[in-house]
Amino acid sequence: MSETRDEVLKARGLSKRYRQGDEEIAVLRGVDFAVGAGERIAVMGRSGAGKSTLLHLLAGLDEPDEGTVWVAGENLTEADPARRAAIRNAHMGFVYQFHHLLPEFSALENVAMPLRLGGRGVAEANETAARLLSRVGMAERLKHRPAALSGGERQRVAVARALVASPEIVLADEPTGNLDRENAEQVFRLMCELSDERGIGFVIVTHDAALLEGVHRVLTLVDGTIE
Ligand SMILES: Nc1ncnc2c1ncn2[C@@H]1O[C@H](COP(=O)(O)OP(=O)(O)OP(=O)(O)O)[C@@H](O)[C@H]1O
Ligand SMILES: [Mg+2]
Repeated sequence: MSETRDEVLKARGLSKRYRQGDEEIAVLRGVDFAVGAGERIAVMGRSGAGKSTLLHLLAGLDEPDEGTVWVAGENLTEADPARRAAIRNAHMGFVYQFHHLLPEFSALENVAMPLRLGGRGVAEANETAARLLSRVGMAERLKHRPAALSGGERQRVAVARALVASPEIVLADEPTGNLDRENAEQVFRLMCELSDERGIGFVIVTHDAALLEGVHRVLTLVDGTIE
């Protein structure tokens, strides 16, 4: 596949081995795929198949033993750590199974954070964050800290934080894995709506087959490669 402008994320020949004592486990053995602009891809596979490992490599938070990741056409794998962080900030958002919100900050401050880090002033960042939080049904909870929110509310804040700067691509590792059915579907619907509206691509690790309706492609990791 050629490197087209429309590919926001591309992985070629990704391999990752872990050494445990004198045993070596090949978790990924040559993973290839690309995410187009606005495309939502689900990654499935049994526990231990390497899904989280793959997301870490795609985010540049860990290095592959072989292979390359490009983000918005730029080689993430060969970039130095500072450049990698800059690429992440410019193009990527993240949602985790457990929200990873900053406990000392309010919902509003958590969501405004990516905009502040991107250089936006306090007033503008807060206004944009408040607008998105109302959009996800959190208008009455702007001042709440994460500890004072329910699980579903925390995940809605986490989704708002990941999307607030309109990144090209969001990586989500079991974003609804910790929620009941109703909340899982609500959070997922929200991710799909915002993805459609803003043309944001997603790579979503999930075990939940009920969520697959909203994605464009499903990839399954088996024996370290994509089936
Ligand atoms: N830092 C590490 N050192 C050694 N082995 C590791 C390390 N991280 C992950 N592994 C191993 O790599 C394999 C893949 O782990 P990974 O977390 O990617 O699985 P997963 O598909 O996300 O599973 P789950 O669905 O349970 O979250 C597992 O067998 C795990 O034990
Ligand atoms: Mg995992």
